[in-house]
Amino acid sequence: MIFSFNSIKDHLRTMDERITDCFNDSDPQIREAIAPYLLNQGKRIRPTLVYLSTLATSSDVTAATHRYALVTELIHCASLFHDDVLDNAMKRRGQPSANRLYGNDTAVLIGDFLYMRALMLMESDRIKLRRAVYRAVTAMTQAEISQGLKRYRILTESDYFRIIEGKTAALISLCALLGASISGNGKWMTTLSIFGRQLGIAFQLIDDLLDWTGGIETGKDRHCDIREGRITLPLIRLLATMDHKETARCNKDLLKSDSPPDKEIIDKYMAMMMNREIDQAIRTDAGNLLSNAAASLNQLPDTTYRRELLEFSDRLIRRSL
Ligand code: FPP
Ligand code: MG
Repeated sequence: MIFSFNSIKDHLRTMDERITDCFNDSDPQIREAIAPYLLNQGKRIRPTLVYLSTLATSSDVTAATHRYALVTELIHCASLFHDDVLDNAMKRRGQPSANRLYGNDTAVLIGDFLYMRALMLMESDRIKLRRAVYRAVTAMTQAEISQGLKRYRILTESDYFRIIEGKTAALISLCALLGASISGNGKWMTTLSIFGRQLGIAFQLIDDLLDWTGGIETGKDRHCDIREGRITLPLIRLLATMDHKETARCNKDLLKSDSPPDKEIIDKYMAMMMNREIDQAIRTDAGNLLSNAAASLNQLPDTTYRRELLEFSDRLIRRSL
């Protein structure tokens, strides 16, 4: 697992075992339906961040850290069940998506079920932390609604950044905050939550780039965004390089709500992105965002975990899956 570190391997294993335990009392058919998406399939980015944030700010992982790792992974999985319905995606984590196998109605209910399981795990936590969870999920949902309302429309960069901050960075920031909450140090909680937000934005920049340019190793459908009329940064940046005629052509080719563009058309614009070095520029932007965010971590004690937090973030934005 390329995003994992030896120092937290055992912790992630513990979290994996607990994911299964969470559903011990569920109908076996439900367990069977959700297991392929929950067990050992994802990149485990959110729990990794929870563990590293605790270890970078406290002396050790506690029972609460394990619980927060689980909560954030469950919320993330819940959001993917919902997201694949919204995106009409056919593939997730290298296998047929739940909406494809069981239909949209069941996939949405599975998402609701996982989300409630996550909230139940936090019922005895401090209200401040529970509110942070409610705020993050509200931001995710709001951003997804905005994204849906803006389909087939050219977005400004600021609209785009607002959306990704809500849909992705809010949860990643929550992971860092929950991890740091073990320290009881409010200043570190703030520092890590701001770091997490920047990391989340940089992460989604790469995710959206890979939707255009990635290979099968992502385990997801490629070109899902544009086929569903979602304009992301690679296209916003490409449009900024076009003259009037090219822009009109591009609008016609890519932004028709009645028929998704075919592969040849998408390939043509993808090649244009590469030629105009848009992919490189976005990777550079993600790197710069992260370097600025990383500077704030200097306030934390200089430990292996602080270095791993930085290494982890760096791998996330250099990734190809
Ligand atoms: C993936 O985006 C989706 C998200 C980051 C968040 C989706 C959030 C919701 C649908 C709201 C969730 C609500 C509850 C109650 C949990 P993407 O489509 O860009 O990424 P992908 O390539 O992985 O599909
Ligand atoms: Mg999606």
